[in-house]
Amino acid sequence: MRFPTTALTRILMPSLVQSQLSFTKMPPKRQLSETSQTDSTAKKVKVSNGDSSKPLADSASEVVKAQNQCSDAPTLKLISWNVNGVRAWLKKKDCLKILSVEKPDILVIQETKCGSKDLPEEIKKVVDYHSYFQSSSGANGGNQGYTGVGLFSRTKPLNVTFGMDREEHDNEGRIITAEYEKFYLVGAYVPNAGRGLVRLKYRRTWNKDFLEYIKKLDEQKPVIYVGDLNVAHQEIDLANPKSNRNKTAGFTDEERADFDELLAVGFTDSYRHLYPTKKDAYTFWSYMGNARGKNVGWRLDYFLLSNRINEKICDCRILSDVMGSDHCPIEIKLAL
Ligand SMILES: *[C@@H]1O[C@H](CO)[C@@H](O)[C@H](O)[C@H]1NC(C)=O
Ligand SMILES: *[C@@H]1O[C@H](CO)[C@@H](O)[C@H](O)[C@H]1NC(C)=O
Repeated sequence: MRFPTTALTRILMPSLVQSQLSFTKMPPKRQLSETSQTDSTAKKVKVSNGDSSKPLADSASEVVKAQNQCSDAPTLKLISWNVNGVRAWLKKKDCLKILSVEKPDILVIQETKCGSKDLPEEIKKVVDYHSYFQSSSGANGGNQGYTGVGLFSRTKPLNVTFGMDREEHDNEGRIITAEYEKFYLVGAYVPNAGRGLVRLKYRRTWNKDFLEYIKKLDEQKPVIYVGDLNVAHQEIDLANPKSNRNKTAGFTDEERADFDELLAVGFTDSYRHLYPTKKDAYTFWSYMGNARGKNVGWRLDYFLLSNRINEKICDCRILSDVMGSDHCPIEIKLAL
């Protein structure tokens, strides 16, 4: 992968769409709607798609524990989802319904794989949401992409920026930062170290530079760092730690050490904070070999929070039954 020298860095206030238009046709209700806004008891999210994936939702007792983490009622619900190609994602299961059904305050998506010119109209114009997207500009005139991030927000952020203000990284469509009154939300699609770890060196440079970026934000306001971080932190975070260690992108000691570093500078892995010993909790499964059915997965998607807002976490869930991508969505509720 070559980086064009003309890369745009950090585009302020994206030109893309903030619209109040509604869907022209509302798709039929699906069972996803059973999880109501007021019911945070982690009722299993069901999508009637015939997939036999092993349910992973957190057990009732753990959820009770989780709910006791925050003393106030949740005020903010965030969902993150690596959609693995937004056009296919829209077609497959009408996945955008996650907005009308789950009604998150903010949805961040990664891996849109879609140049800005090809973004489907329906994701640019979602009722009740402001939306922002960045695609990889790549060498192909800004209309090709294998990366790309997006954000849907009920309230209009104070500011939205892209990238980490470093030209060598910022043409890849990997980071969206939205500033709100009380926090920064950083949505990221972290570079994959690649087959044969060919991109591990680049990945580590990215990690290092990103660490500086997020530390600076954290000095100003608490940060919610979310997305596909493309690393399983500990052995518990993937099904086959022994065979993948140092061999497969996402589970090298180097990538894991960089994750440690993030925690060391003042961030919390919110899911592990609530469920330190929870096994078989994954957010990604390869499409090969019925991995999802057998729950041979990886936990690659995270909400990392500035330590000082730890006590604001009310609940953190992996919506492993929601289909439409090789990743499932993750959700957090905060009293912030
Ligand atoms: C948005 O953030 C950028 C980068 O921090 C900053 O330069 C710009 O002034 C901000 N804009 C607004 C409207 O706050
Ligand atoms: C993994 O890599 C690290 C550093 O590159 C090395 O110290 C460690 O011994 C390796 N472990 C295995 C099991 O390969």
